[in-house]
Amino acid sequence: MDIEKNGEALILCRCEEVTEEEVLQAIREGCRTLDEVKRYTRAGMGLCQGRTCGKLIAAMIHKHTGIPIERILPITTRFPVKPVMLKVLSGLHGDE
Ligand code: FES
Repeated sequence: MDIEKNGEALILCRCEEVTEEEVLQAIREGCRTLDEVKRYTRAGMGLCQGRTCGKLIAAMIHKHTGIPIERILPITTRFPVKPVMLKVLSGLHGDE
């Protein structure tokens, strides 16, 4: 997998623009699962829900802690949320 280069920082999570250094700092601070890194950095909270960055972050956790990959994956995902205007929810949309 490729890691994008953005100037000096390597971006691991494109959706939330979380860098490799931010993930490494989370691991240094004690994060040992994808969900812990997610809560610490927001990596994995974006539109793809970690489908793109999850494996990269899991590989980093494995590399720096020795925890087997199968104990790190999968990441907890949420359904995509789409904003809905209140007038649509109230049924008062359109020419009414
Ligand atoms: S790349 Fe991380 S949530 Fe999409």
